[in-house]
Order: sequence, then C-alpha cells, then structure tokens
Amino acid sequence: MKKYGNGKSSAKIIWFGEHSVVYEQPAIALPLSAVSVSAQISFNENNEPSRIYSRYYDGLWRQLPRELAGIKQMVIKILSRFDKADQAFTLTIESEIPSERGMGSSAATAVAIARATFNLFDKNISRNQLLQYVDIEEQITHGNPSGLDAATASSKWPIWYVKGAENMQLDMNLAGAFLVIADSGIKGKTSEAVANVSDQMTTDYDKTNSIIMKMGQIASAVPPLLLNNDIDELGNLMNANHNCLRQLHVSNQQLDKLQRVAVLAGAKGAKLTGSGLGGCLIALSDSAQNASLVAKQLEKHGATKTWIQPLGQF
Ligand code: PMV
Repeated sequence: MKKYGNGKSSAKIIWFGEHSVVYEQPAIALPLSAVSVSAQISFNENNEPSRIYSRYYDGLWRQLPRELAGIKQMVIKILSRFDKADQAFTLTIESEIPSERGMGSSAATAVAIARATFNLFDKNISRNQLLQYVDIEEQITHGNPSGLDAATASSKWPIWYVKGAENMQLDMNLAGAFLVIADSGIKGKTSEAVANVSDQMTTDYDKTNSIIMKMGQIASAVPPLLLNNDIDELGNLMNANHNCLRQLHVSNQQLDKLQRVAVLAGAKGAKLTGSGLGGCLIALSDSAQNASLVAKQLEKHGATKTWIQPLGQF
C-alpha cells in the first residue's frame, strides 16, 4: 500500500446530440482535459477521524452533507473491497469544474476519487470496474443517469454514445482545432429542459420527432469528419445542431447571443452544450489565435468564464 493515492479526471461536454440522445439517437461527448478534478486519499494515523477537504464541503466525513451521499456510498464500497471499510482516511478534492453547468462535475469527481483509492492500494482499476463504482455515486446523485457523464469522464477519447448500447471511443485527428467553452453564467436546467422536449413529443409528435431525427443524422455524420480534420464541416454541423436545439426551445436569449458572437468572431461553428436553458456554449476554432479571440469576445458579451481545449492532442 502507498502513503497517498492520487487520481484525476476531467469535465465533459456534449459535442453533438443532447436531447436527441434521450430518444435513442447517437450523441458525441468529449472529455475536457483543460478542466480537471483531482483527488488524494491517505489513511489517518493516531486515530484521527475521517475528513474531507473540498470546495463542496470541508469537515468530518461522518457529517457529510446529503448532496455528497453518492460519493460516500462509493467510497465505502471501494474500501470494503479491500477490507478497509473501518479505516479512517483523509480525502482532498481539488476541482476546476463548475457545478450545474452540464460539465459532468459529479461523475468526474467520483472518477477521480475511485482512481485515487485504487492507487492508494497500488492497484489498477479497469474502465469497466471504474464505471460500475461511479454508477453507485451517479445513481444516488442523479436518480436515473444516462451514464454519458461517467463514460466520458473516464475516457481519454471522444465517446460515441447510444442509450442502452455499449459506448465506443472515437478516433480523432483534428490538428490545429480548438474548442472554446463558455459558461453563460446561468445554471443549466436538465430536468426542466428534458420535460419540455417530452411535452413537445406529446403535443406535436411529427414536428418534434423530425427535429430529433435530424439531430441524429447530424451526429451520425460527425465521426468521419473527426478523422479527416474537416473543421469547416464540423463547424457547419454545430451551427445546424444549435438551430435544432433552438427549435426544441431549449436555448435561451443569452445562449443564442453567445452563439452569434462566436460565429461573428470567426469560429467555424458554435452551439449550446448539455441540457440548455443555461449552462455552457461551445465554439470551434481553427487556430489558437482565433480561439483566444473568440473566448475574449464571449467574455465581453457576458460569458462568466471560458476555457480553451486543444483538440489536436487527443
Ligand atoms: O446538461 P447535462 O450535461 O446534464 O446534459 C443533459 C443531456 C440531455 O441529453 C439533455 C439529457 C440526458 O439525460 O442525456
């Protein structure tokens, strides 16, 4: 066993196919190494009680707030596996991932903690094992998670995701491309947005279903473009996907404004990401210089924070 166990993970964004993924259409999601979370765990000496230090809560493990109940169950499960459920520990979490912005903060945190705990015992954890442990946390935190967040936070590559099917890691060869992620400053509203679309499916099935199908076609056209470095067409598809999401009424004025600002600043395309009604916008640039210009313009027009993810390094 080691003195300290360390684990890392990162935020995720949905690149294509949010909402349509709920209706069995494919989605493509991406881990963002530029926005990371790290965890460190060690066993206590001198009978010190278990503690956690984090942005969400600093204090005794036994007084952990209810929002962290998922993390608690997952850690207990992992420690039990190593017959150490009664051993007191100190867990430190450092996260750059904002909460409730559709960036998969809870799943990424759980991935980092599970990795750190296995690392403490000097054991490797397979991706499948990792997903099983993280699912314990996600089931408690989110009720009925699609699994997309955990699949992406535990991957080094973009993910092709179809609900109920095994996810696939996608190859990508995007030299010189950069993704700008901008926080609109407004919390995303996942359950409200999903319920909204579901209502439209009931009241106007034909129109709503044709938008969902169109988003499925858009996502299906993406994998060869990732391989062929076709940044222009990827940008066009991002704009088209944003339009579909607008037609589903899950965008809002701020996201639409930021989308236009990004395209006017020279981004090849831009769209909201995640549930919508708030959360983040993503924009595709074909150079580092353009990406920083787009990020500056987005901040000037109200984005509260921006990140730049190089896509060439996948
Ligand atoms: O904003 P997020 O990351 O919670 O994404 C929600 C994505 C949806 O497709 C709208 C819902 C889902 O369960 O996939």
